[in-house]
Amino acid sequence: MQPANSVTANPHPPPSRRDFLQWLAASPLVGALSGCLPPGAAVAPSAPPSGPSATTGNPSRSVLHAPVASAADALDVFDLERVAEIAMPPAHFGYIQTGVDGEETQRNNRTALERLHIRARRLVDVSRLDTRVTLFGREWPTPIVIAPCGSQRGFHPEGEIATARAAQAAGHLQVLSTVSSTGVEEVNEARGEPVWYQLYATSNREVTRAVVDRVRAAGCPVIVLTVDLPAGGNRLTLARWSRIDERSCTSCHRPGGRAPTVKPMFQGTGYRPADFRTPAMTWDFIGELRAMTDQRLVVKGLVTREDAELALEHGVDGIWVSNHGGRAEGSGRATIEALPEIAAAVGGRVPLIVDGGFRRGTDIFKAIARGADAVAVGRPYLWGLGAFGQAGVERALEILRDELAMTMRLAGTPSLSAIGPAAVGVN
Ligand SMILES: Cc1cc2nc3c(=O)[nH]c(=O)nc-3n(C[C@H](O)[C@H](O)[C@H](O)COP(=O)(O)O)c2cc1C
Repeated sequence: MQPANSVTANPHPPPSRRDFLQWLAASPLVGALSGCLPPGAAVAPSAPPSGPSATTGNPSRSVLHAPVASAADALDVFDLERVAEIAMPPAHFGYIQTGVDGEETQRNNRTALERLHIRARRLVDVSRLDTRVTLFGREWPTPIVIAPCGSQRGFHPEGEIATARAAQAAGHLQVLSTVSSTGVEEVNEARGEPVWYQLYATSNREVTRAVVDRVRAAGCPVIVLTVDLPAGGNRLTLARWSRIDERSCTSCHRPGGRAPTVKPMFQGTGYRPADFRTPAMTWDFIGELRAMTDQRLVVKGLVTREDAELALEHGVDGIWVSNHGGRAEGSGRATIEALPEIAAAVGGRVPLIVDGGFRRGTDIFKAIARGADAVAVGRPYLWGLGAFGQAGVERALEILRDELAMTMRLAGTPSLSAIGPAAVGVN
């Protein structure tokens, strides 16, 4: 079984990365994966990471959980995590994994989900399932949303384009990050329709206005304003993984490099890095944003009833319960714990999205039972992307959809609206 804190733990320290790469180099599958491996990864052939147990002849645990060779082989999203860990540059993998401080918030996102159980009902006709959800008049076949995550070309050369194609393949709502490594127009084209756009409002209003004008012109119907990162977080896991990365960051992260210092959405806006943080931003900014655009406004990063009420008072169109996947404040408060009080405050008046630690269909089910209309995921699809590009993102989403469908059948809930508060209990 996956340990509760597997998201933050480092289950495969660097030696297993090396062992796997050696084994992989000798495998016929190396061709299939080579596009994902860091330069110079293929090394001399050798044995698989570990062999059968000498006493029983059964394979050891590390063989049972050995990295899968193709996206289709992944049994759960953690199988994709294991491949991403060895296929990606350490610093970039560390950027995905990191929380803040001792990672209490990130870990609690998971443990709080595990403290809930599902109250399964019997003898309900579940031969037909309905997982559709309608957000702002647009119907989606699944409530599973692709959370905005920046810098995706750092995880795979096709970055946000691979994610957009995977989103299109199964009809997922995709939200594009302000700090994406691909411009919104290109992503919209790959997605086949305009995505929702996540906004980091800079502290320079002219820069912010230029970004908003651009995404409005690109046809994005919804702006998701992220409000949980007014200042930087204490990302120790990122620092530790960066330490073991032998490459020089400045070989890519420099003006004109493969990862330019000014992100595509800020180019041509007069943006300076000092503009990025918004420590002075208050609720008044909602009014300013309203004056800039007629797009729908969703506020992302709320974790209290009080802020949900303020958001409604300020006229937002939707609320996204999030602690940035445990990458912002080290409060230790899990989003699944914050969800019920926010759902009660919202009372169905606006759509409610939640994210933070959702890794299985049962987790998504629990969020819907606690009042979410849709559930977003970050790291699971990034693991898929880092491991296998578009095929990996598709597989991560497919696993979650299939698991949700199976959970709904086994719980006797044929539609999302049948998943009410009584469908979960606390252990
Ligand atoms: C690598 C990475 C980059 C992220 N970048 C952004 C971002 O640019 N904007 C944003 O609002 N949230 C960002 N997030 C947070 C996600 O949108 C989401 O809230 C979080 O990943 C959900 O938690 P999960 O990863 O446990 O599923 C990022 C998360 C990760 C892991």
